[in-house]
Amino acid sequence: MKNNLVEFLDLGFQPLANSFIPINNIRKKERKYKLKISFNKKNFLVSIKNTFSSNEMFNDTYPYRSSMSKSVSKSFKELSNKIKKKLNPKNILEIGSNDGTFMNYFNKKKIVGIEPCSNVEKITKRKGFKTYPLYWNKKTSDFLKKKHGEFDLIYSANTLSHIKNLNSVFKSIYNCLSKEGSLIIEDPSLLDCLKTNTYDQFYNEHIYVFSCIALNEVLKKNKLQIYRIEKIKLHGGSIRYYIKKTTSKKKIEKSFFKQILDEEKFGLKKLNTYLNFSKRVKKSKKKLIKLFSSLKKQEFKIIGYGATAKSTTVLNYCEIDNKYIDYFLDTTPDKQNKFTPGTKIKILKYKNGIENDVDYVFLGAWNFKKEIFKKEKKFIDRGGKFITHNPYPKIIK
Ligand code: TYD
Repeated sequence: MKNNLVEFLDLGFQPLANSFIPINNIRKKERKYKLKISFNKKNFLVSIKNTFSSNEMFNDTYPYRSSMSKSVSKSFKELSNKIKKKLNPKNILEIGSNDGTFMNYFNKKKIVGIEPCSNVEKITKRKGFKTYPLYWNKKTSDFLKKKHGEFDLIYSANTLSHIKNLNSVFKSIYNCLSKEGSLIIEDPSLLDCLKTNTYDQFYNEHIYVFSCIALNEVLKKNKLQIYRIEKIKLHGGSIRYYIKKTTSKKKIEKSFFKQILDEEKFGLKKLNTYLNFSKRVKKSKKKLIKLFSSLKKQEFKIIGYGATAKSTTVLNYCEIDNKYIDYFLDTTPDKQNKFTPGTKIKILKYKNGIENDVDYVFLGAWNFKKEIFKKEKKFIDRGGKFITHNPYPKIIK
């Protein structure tokens, strides 16, 4: 297995992407790791090299909440309507239910969630939903099957790519999915990541960034098959995969074959494609540093918007710290009054928009650009400008 792995990108020393620092720990040494990305020549999976155990990353201090974004809630609502209309499942399991944003759209008796980060799991439980503070593995799958029976629908957004042992993940899903049931998963698309140079999709939690090609290789080994895909705009370009048991009567649809073809055409099976991406990322770093330095020399006031896990990668890789960015604004309570990992930029509570003395805003949450631009019309109208690093570093005019 190891010999099939070729390292193609080195994003330097990085802290854990969601380890926002409370003021009391600001002088403490942070844990860092080398963020290197590899391509597996045999099954085409792209993964990070140094990984952490699930309980180091997903525990009772996890800050991320799905409900913080309108676009995420809207997407979950639309999907829930589609599921009810087209699949009409008797019982549903959500793996990685976070604060219950998806579960909210279903009848409390029909849906069960698991979420190992007990701080957010409790939020869903308080609303009266059935949730368990468990990691996804065979033991959990056996327990749920015994307690709730087989599931007609298993849903998981931005979670399965966070678990290292994919064969165990999918075996455990196979174990409790009904014969004609569907597994729906959503994750950032590797094709979009490479096309738009969004190297910040790589950080400790994203052990894999899936392509349809690679995911299907892993699924095949576990008697599962993608039968439909939908492209969605969330998280900078994601794919929603509809998956069935190989033995299910469901037909494999055109959308699956088209995605495979598009990915092959772009070169996702070839090492050279990744080596070229790596070259573009190095150029992107130089350009972003140049942009920040030039604005700072002109004494412009720059802040950040959305202290994302993704921005941890960009800021640490490009060494853009509190000398360049005065502070970040963020709506997430668990991030506020803390500092960004590695770069130690203070995070302030988002109140009523961007202060009048701010000239430039670095888009940490670039994936919600549209939502943010709509909200910050006043800032834009008074000549305020945004900075982004993708598809290449630039000021958005
Ligand atoms: P997201 O891009 O979903 O996550 P990740 O951490 O996985 O890279 O996170 C969006 C962050 O941006 C989250 O901390 C909330 C914040 N945010 C705002 O502060 N204001 C906004 O209007 C939006 C859309 C997000």
